[in-house]
Amino acid sequence: MKIGVIGAGFIGRAVAQLALAAGHEVMLSNSRGPQTMSSVLSGIWGVQVGSAEDAAQFGDVVLVAIPLAHYRSVPVQGLEGKTVMDANNYYPERDGHIPELDRFETTTSRLLADHLPRSHVVKVFNAIFAPDLTQDARPHGAPERRALPVAADDVAAKAQVIQLLDELGFDAVDAGGLDESWRFERAKPAYCVALDQAGLKAALAAAQRTVEVPPVDRSRFRP
Ligand SMILES: NC(=O)c1ccc[n+]([C@@H]2O[C@H](COP(=O)([O-])OP(=O)(O)OC[C@H]3O[C@@H](n4cnc5c(N)ncnc54)[C@H](OP(=O)(O)O)[C@@H]3O)[C@@H](O)[C@H]2O)c1
Repeated sequence: MKIGVIGAGFIGRAVAQLALAAGHEVMLSNSRGPQTMSSVLSGIWGVQVGSAEDAAQFGDVVLVAIPLAHYRSVPVQGLEGKTVMDANNYYPERDGHIPELDRFETTTSRLLADHLPRSHVVKVFNAIFAPDLTQDARPHGAPERRALPVAADDVAAKAQVIQLLDELGFDAVDAGGLDESWRFERAKPAYCVALDQAGLKAALAAAQRTVEVPPVDRSRFRP
């Protein structure tokens, strides 16, 4: 599969490494253009680089991993009909305040889905710290394998991403549609905690819409 990545930061690069290791083709992009990405090219063997528009066109599946504040700059053209994986989180101190998120009226992924009405947005990779992606990946069937939450409105796109997660080294837990994806946004019990499938299901069920929990010692929950 060809995977385009918009955002060549910690998350984009970590997912790229896992995807290349699993045999996929990957194109990374940033906001400044491929001429600024020589360290990415030399640091990740086999990766391709391009503009955000190039990565959108390139991918059969495309990952968006940029500061949420910039979500409206994600190219709409090139992503029509495609599965778009959304790793973005809302940090008001970084992104500025987004009133409808502050009022718990919508979700970060619903904002992206509204911007990309002809794409199939899947929330994934937002609830794991980037270094843990390469550290915690395990082969299918490994004991106490880490699970990641996934939410999407489109059933086929969600299944495609769950299959990709398995190839990349993770189990999945289906957390429902995009309007339920607040259950694993920042400051919820499932956020960036290492859990197996049973533990993750319990953490998702424990989430309360308007209650934010402090960060936990994530190693405490390591399976
Ligand atoms: N780091 C983590 O552990 C982690 C874990 C889960 C989720 N997340 C979430 O994932 C997203 C990315 O986080 P990160 O830590 O990977 O960020 P990061 O290291 O700061 O990198 C951000 C990347 O996005 C690019 N970018 C910014 N605006 C863009 C635009 N309009 N179009 C294309 N590319 C753009 C930047 O390129 P330029 O430098 O050229 O601007 C940079 O390559 C955030 O929403 C974050 O909250 C992060």
